[in-house]
Amino acid sequence: MERAPIIKIQHADKSFGKNHVLKNISLDVNEGEIFGLIGASGSGKTTLLKILIGFLSPEQGDVKFRYDYFVKSKNKSQKPLYASVYKQQKLARNLFGFASQEPSFYKKLTVKENMEYFGSLYNLPKQALQSNINILIALMDLKHAENTLAGDLSGGMERRLDIACALVHDPEVLILDEPTSDLDPLLRDHIWSLVKKINKKGTTIILASHHLSEVETFCSRIAIIKNGKIIDVASPARLKTKYADSQEIRIQTYPGSYANIAKVIKKPGNKVFDVKIKGSELIIYSDRPQIVLHELLHTLETLKEELIDIQVFRPGLDELFLKITGKK
Ligand SMILES: Nc1ncnc2c1ncn2[C@@H]1O[C@H](COP(=O)(O)OP(=O)(O)O)[C@@H](O)[C@H]1O
Ligand SMILES: [Mg+2]
Repeated sequence: MERAPIIKIQHADKSFGKNHVLKNISLDVNEGEIFGLIGASGSGKTTLLKILIGFLSPEQGDVKFRYDYFVKSKNKSQKPLYASVYKQQKLARNLFGFASQEPSFYKKLTVKENMEYFGSLYNLPKQALQSNINILIALMDLKHAENTLAGDLSGGMERRLDIACALVHDPEVLILDEPTSDLDPLLRDHIWSLVKKINKKGTTIILASHHLSEVETFCSRIAIIKNGKIIDVASPARLKTKYADSQEIRIQTYPGSYANIAKVIKKPGNKVFDVKIKGSELIIYSDRPQIVLHELLHTLETLKEELIDIQVFRPGLDELFLKITGKK
């Protein structure tokens, strides 16, 4: 089945003062998928999610969303219609549900009162809201706690309440910012099974996490963000083969103008997905080391760099992923 993107991020650029946090990011999210945004802490995930929902505006670029959901009378066969989240803020607000990294519910309200409060921020008929709340309380396993003060909930229940509050207006797209951080493995599994359930009911899900291993089993696609750039977008299976097949070429050269070598060797089509300078070595990550080696030797000759040492490694998947996302 052909699925048109529900969201298109187009060349988004964002700085906080001198901190250039997002660099020319373009991404499509398709209707019905579970899309994972993976990156180390500080890589720009939360900033990107806030830009996506129109909460923060980028200095450059735009975010478009499909708004034909909201145009009921038009014929269905026409092409999808897109609008900017910054120009159609009200519709965008109805399209998205956002569960932030920090709890956003009120501790002095009960579970149900919180949901009623968040629901009242949207223009929903009272009955529709009540019916949504009842469905969500059951779906999120909060029935036994509906009259409990939110401040008395356990960590896993807090997280479920936050997700329930984000879903109270029945959004097309649910955004989850690190939904399982600080939870133990059992509670994590519970959250993930609920996320899958929500997705099965037709909600598109975009989630940020810094654990590839945690989300690879159920995301349809994963984008890897590093230092504010998307360095890869692929299915988990594709990422796995790619990173599993990847190798590290470590060289030392004289005089050792590594930045110049890196510039040449990183050019598009060269099968190199990252280059790093570490101490006296230049490290090149690639899934096609033969091709890269060939190019590398040629480059060294052109740049008049003398090869002192060369080694090829095959690191483990986790290790490599951590290197790629920039974590120690
Ligand atoms: N409101 C803000 N003001 C200034 N700097 C910010 C703000 N929000 C985020 N940053 C900075 O932007 C970078 C990316 O942050 P963030 O998007 O929260 O990353 P992540 O969610 O991947 O951990 C960090 O360097 C962070 O300090
Ligand atoms: Mg974050």
